[in-house]
Amino acid sequence: MKEKIANWRLTIRFKWTCLLSLAIFMVFGLFATLIYTSIEQALLHNEENNVRDTVSAVDSRFNVYQAPLTRQQVQRRLAPKTKRNFHDTHGRLVTESPEDFYRDSLTKQLARGDLSLVLFDTHGKPIFKMGNIDTKFERTKTTKITVVKRNAQRLKHLRALMPIYSERTKQIIGYAKITNGMRNYHRTFRQLNQKMLLVILFAILLSIILGYLLTQPLVRRIKQINRTIDQINDDPDSTARIPQQRSNDEITDLVDRFNHMLDRMQDYTNQQKEFVEDVSHELRTPVAVIEGHLKLLQRWGKDDPQVLEESIDASVSEIDRMKKLIQEMLDLTRAEQIENNYVNETTQANETIHQAYNDFVMLHPDFKINLDDTVPPKTIVKIYRNHLMQILVILLDNAVKYSRDRKEINLSVSTESNMLAIAVQDFGVGVKQEDLKRIFNRFYRVDKARSRQSGGNGLGLSIAKKIVEMYKGNISAESAVGSGTIFRVNLPLTSKKNKH
Ligand SMILES: Nc1ncnc2c1ncn2[C@@H]1O[C@H](COP(=O)(O)OP(=O)(O)OP(=O)(O)O)[C@@H](O)[C@H]1O
Ligand SMILES: [Mg+2]
Repeated sequence: MKEKIANWRLTIRFKWTCLLSLAIFMVFGLFATLIYTSIEQALLHNEENNVRDTVSAVDSRFNVYQAPLTRQQVQRRLAPKTKRNFHDTHGRLVTESPEDFYRDSLTKQLARGDLSLVLFDTHGKPIFKMGNIDTKFERTKTTKITVVKRNAQRLKHLRALMPIYSERTKQIIGYAKITNGMRNYHRTFRQLNQKMLLVILFAILLSIILGYLLTQPLVRRIKQINRTIDQINDDPDSTARIPQQRSNDEITDLVDRFNHMLDRMQDYTNQQKEFVEDVSHELRTPVAVIEGHLKLLQRWGKDDPQVLEESIDASVSEIDRMKKLIQEMLDLTRAEQIENNYVNETTQANETIHQAYNDFVMLHPDFKINLDDTVPPKTIVKIYRNHLMQILVILLDNAVKYSRDRKEINLSVSTESNMLAIAVQDFGVGVKQEDLKRIFNRFYRVDKARSRQSGGNGLGLSIAKKIVEMYKGNISAESAVGSGTIFRVNLPLTSKKNKH
């Protein structure tokens, strides 16, 4: 049913085929008209010349007379049976044989069959008629050649009206009317029309086929796009993508963009799904711990002051963890929006780094924290101050948390090729090579149990990574188990130095 309705509408293919056909047809029509008119003109010109020849032949044949033409003269002059003699205009004796007569251009013209001739005397009375022609008389002083349409078939023919002047007296001695049925002209046109019709039919057919074939790849690709959309509508997790063609055109761009959009959307939904799964998983433990303690108290613990105290302490610390977790999750989501809100923010590097350093020195007096700062004063880094602070706190916090016996941290900052380079080094437990790749993942902790004890949620590094990447920087880690870890962060500097 759906298919049927779809077939009824004006499809792109139909429209394009029609348009293309029309265009081809119009170009062809223009071309044909041009050819048609030029052939017509050439043929007409030819026929006109014929008539002109006849006119001059008639003229040269009769202008030898001085007195108005008579029937006998004309008949004798046009239909001689034997050799005859006569005097020309100059009074010379001319001998004419029948062969000469037939060689004469007038007779040759008349013998063609589509030429007709009427001769009139000076009063307009027809004195000679040859061929299919009306004998209506029109007086004229000059030769007139016109194109007229024959009544019955409305076919064009040429008509010449001419006065015959005596060469000697310069007086009109008679009139002639000549028509040229243009048989050649009409025959040529009949043939031309038949061929034109064939060619037109061929052009229409060709344009339909061409239109169909030209729209074929486009329609096929649109169908592919539709199929892919349907597939993804049916199953949002489907990894179906629109197949890419080798050609490089606008549709390829569209397909690229569309596939890219699908990738991004799916990444995004996957991330959301994972995030919700991770969060619920992370929240389950503290909630279970609190629940356990509360149940303990409910049963008998409330009467035992020691149990009561322990349970309340444990619950409060779990709630603290949950609070931290919620704050961190909030930071993580905010870090994803940096691109929109903070992208133009800048900070003076030294000032923020020194503050973070001072804070940690004060908070952890048991640690030996070394600051190696080679950053030129007033260096501006392209990051919002609180975000830079957050990165430093996350790294320093980890360095403190994962240090054991050797309580020493090296914080070094320098500038390298328009980047601010921060390195935080500790001499603690270190991370195994295979874990090193994953420590930036959300909720990833190398030693879950230990980390939980120290209050870690496994979100610090993923927040740091997200922030750094949003500001077009990069973060990496090197580590050796038992010897320590070093985290490196690079952030772009502004080219201009301004106070912030
Ligand atoms: N300096 C370090 N030395 C050794 N291991 C580290 C260091 N920094 C991070 N790690 C490992 O990487 C894991 C992830 O670190 P991250 O900062 O993301 O989470 P966390 O410190 O466990 O918790 P949170 O930072 O959310 O409080 C840690 O659990 C730890 O196993
Ligand atoms: Mg941490």
